[in-house]
Amino acid sequence: MTDTRNLSQDAAAAAGTFAIGGDLPVARLGFGAMRLPTGTFTGPVRNPETGIAVLRRAVELGVNHIDTASFYRRGDVIANDLVRQALAPYPDGLVIATKVGPLLGPDGIPAQQATAGQLRGLVEDNLRELGVEHLGLVYLRVGGRNAPGGEPVSERFAALAKLRSDGLIRHLGVSNVDAAQLAEARAIAPVAAVQNAFHVQATADAALLAECARTGTAFVPFFPLGGGLDPIDTTRLEKTAARHGATVQQVALAALLAASPVMLPIPGTGSVAHLEENVGAARVQLTQEDLADLAG
Ligand SMILES: NC(=O)c1ccc[n+]([C@@H]2O[C@H](COP(=O)([O-])OP(=O)(O)OC[C@H]3O[C@@H](n4cnc5c(N)ncnc54)[C@H](OP(=O)(O)O)[C@@H]3O)[C@@H](O)[C@H]2O)c1
Repeated sequence: MTDTRNLSQDAAAAAGTFAIGGDLPVARLGFGAMRLPTGTFTGPVRNPETGIAVLRRAVELGVNHIDTASFYRRGDVIANDLVRQALAPYPDGLVIATKVGPLLGPDGIPAQQATAGQLRGLVEDNLRELGVEHLGLVYLRVGGRNAPGGEPVSERFAALAKLRSDGLIRHLGVSNVDAAQLAEARAIAPVAAVQNAFHVQATADAALLAECARTGTAFVPFFPLGGGLDPIDTTRLEKTAARHGATVQQVALAALLAASPVMLPIPGTGSVAHLEENVGAARVQLTQEDLADLAG
């Protein structure tokens, strides 16, 4: 496996940086906080001290793009609280991205979507939990667990655009959207980032990624390691992994980094060892031969 012992303070930037919205530069390899409170959607609560250690180690390794949400919680363990406890006062240049839209049911699983009128309260929840006066990047997360499409976003995105003009949010994003929904949002306010499901073998949104690249919009793949409904067949990554002395997870992330300069993976984990392995992927440079093998 690519050695993680000698990871430097800028390890996460080994695959370069990208300026979200043109003015928030981040290392392209980021971190997703969803797995800190629980490892699976219905799993047991995880130890908050481990979550804090993961977050601190991420920042030590140069991760400065942390994706979170107020609805990433299980029991008393809330991802936003862990981010604040681990990292506040926040280092200069740390971009905390959050998302609003889903409302949790009594079992703690997203059950319905917020209305436009509820979004201000949800943004304020994030401000309070994270202990900040304004947020770097806020996504409107639309739809359920299925593929995007089929619902209007204008009214809710306009509500977030108002919060942006009020100074609560620096940049806006949209999540789980199709091209029509992205266009609908863009007609209201600039969209700095799109966050959709995508991994080395789940590339249905390749055209949307190309559109993001064309417009300098960050494309943030969720489930980059296939942690969702669409797992990665890791046997198809083994040959490339062996060639680089890397793990299959590192190859999965390196393939995303190679796919586009606007691609900003945010692999999630509740383990310091997995975090280090994932950050180590930023220095795995895949060749054209590797990419052809992975596509085959
Ligand atoms: N916008 C949305 O709708 C949406 C939806 C889902 C997620 N997200 C965001 O996207 C981020 C990334 O997605 P994700 O965290 O669900 O999925 P992921 O990165 O595809 O995979 C996470 C899963 O892989 C495991 N894992 C992580 N690193 C590993 C490694 N090096 N070796 C072996 N297993 C490893 C984790 O287990 P361990 O914890 O045990 O390491 C966890 O089960 C989330 O954290 C969240 O911020 C957004």
